[in-house]
Amino acid sequence: MRPQHMPQDRILILDFGSQYTQLIARRIRESHVYCEIHPFNMDLLKILEFDPKGIIFSGGPASVYAQDAPKVSPEIYQIGIPILGICYGLQLMCFQLGGEVEPADEREYGHAVISLKDSDELFHGMESPDIKVWMSHGDRVKRLPPGFKIIAYSDNSPVAAVVDPQKRFYGVQFHPEVAHTPQGRTIIENFLFRICRCNPTWTMQSFIDETIKSIREEVGNNHVICALSGGVDSSVVAVLLHKAIGNQLHCVFVNNGLLRLGEAESVRRLFETYFDIPLIYVDASKEFLTRLRGVTDPEKKRKIIGNLFVEIFEGEAKRLPQVTYLAQGTLYPDVIESVSFKGPSATIKTHHNVGGLPERMNLRLIEPLRELFKDEVRLLGRELGLPERIIMRHPFPGPGLAIRIIGEVTEDRLRIVREADTIVLEEMEASGWYDKVWQAFAVLLPIKSVGVMGDERTYEQVIALRIVESVDAMTADWARIPYELLSKMANRIINEVRGVNRVVYDISSKPPSTIEWE
Ligand code: XMP
Repeated sequence: MRPQHMPQDRILILDFGSQYTQLIARRIRESHVYCEIHPFNMDLLKILEFDPKGIIFSGGPASVYAQDAPKVSPEIYQIGIPILGICYGLQLMCFQLGGEVEPADEREYGHAVISLKDSDELFHGMESPDIKVWMSHGDRVKRLPPGFKIIAYSDNSPVAAVVDPQKRFYGVQFHPEVAHTPQGRTIIENFLFRICRCNPTWTMQSFIDETIKSIREEVGNNHVICALSGGVDSSVVAVLLHKAIGNQLHCVFVNNGLLRLGEAESVRRLFETYFDIPLIYVDASKEFLTRLRGVTDPEKKRKIIGNLFVEIFEGEAKRLPQVTYLAQGTLYPDVIESVSFKGPSATIKTHHNVGGLPERMNLRLIEPLRELFKDEVRLLGRELGLPERIIMRHPFPGPGLAIRIIGEVTEDRLRIVREADTIVLEEMEASGWYDKVWQAFAVLLPIKSVGVMGDERTYEQVIALRIVESVDAMTADWARIPYELLSKMANRIINEVRGVNRVVYDISSKPPSTIEWE
């Protein structure tokens, strides 16, 4: 439980299902303190083992009086370390310690201004006695538990913040972790540094040093295999492992023929030439295309691609008899055993990874990024010297261009989508829009439409442009990029990509649509 390679001070976040729980963690780590999110019912012994300097209760959608309301075991209040309850966390703490909670007359949702009362460590350094906050709650505290006092109030929330100064228990009705609470960072840092007395020692360099040490200890003289995709996660894993164990690492890069223009070459150049990390390069593009012939069902395509990948990877691994570990770029959001709403997209599609392989081949897993968020992986990548174009690269699905071709994948249809994709990326980069959006790509539709070129009537393919903004891909909205940019892309695609006479822009949001078309 206690991360062996993390000797730093740490904060425990108990999750009650708030949509903002991960944000709390992000804020804390940005302040260079290590923290982890665990479900609200985490075992007391495990909490003690984790040895936090402070605990934060997240918000959550429940009401403390509901029959199945999530509650912490009351012994938590006896451990003797500071606690900060946010929203539902505040209500729960007050309720469990003998106060009273009631439904508010009106649900309070949105911007609010609270007034500070008394001076308290939590609000140290606030710019004025009235501060802007973000509220989102139905219930509110009616009567405080013994030992508590109010340190902030508003018209709508007479109990906007409380403290038990003896026990160092804090509660806030608002959300300091969201950007709509402009001084929220200071409030959280006051909790970390003034109240919990944490040291800000969580940095990427400390992470690299500790991770390299623990990888070396774990792996010993054994060998590790790693599947490279050219994306930021697997690239960071490979470079980190190479630093730790050098030639005991074997990187496999499978060209499935569904990559973007020039991608295979640029991955090879980066690893073999720039980083001097040898690659086992397998060009399986013909095989993938053969197996995909005639297949139009999106799930079937995914299965065929996933299975063939595993077959190839397994074959390569078997040639390296000394391999006992498989390295994967699993990130923290995938491992959080969160009670938060996760959205359907996590399970709606069969995602492409080396699933099932570790057990089948008796490989042990190494997941050096499993404690990191995506932007921390990017910081780590920078620290490890990865080029900016890899670090800021848009996500690219494992099944590649196959899911951006609606209908059958053929060589000619791959050519069309690949050429259109290149134009989209060139124009996004040239205009400075690439880094402002989550993803931008071209989709080849399975229909033809009539057009006219010169004096000739044409009957050709349609390309849809998909350009979205998103924070975590769970939700997304179409990007409001300038018409001129859209126009330039459309013109270039129609003029330069043989077989296309029409371009459309996808203005659907997710949900109910998804980012990829498949
Ligand atoms: P959707 O289409 O579900 O996509 O809104 C959400 C995000 O996931 C990416 N995606 C994938 N990534 N393997 C991946 O590594 C996959 O099979 C896969 N399918 C979708 C997609 O590009 C978007 O960023």
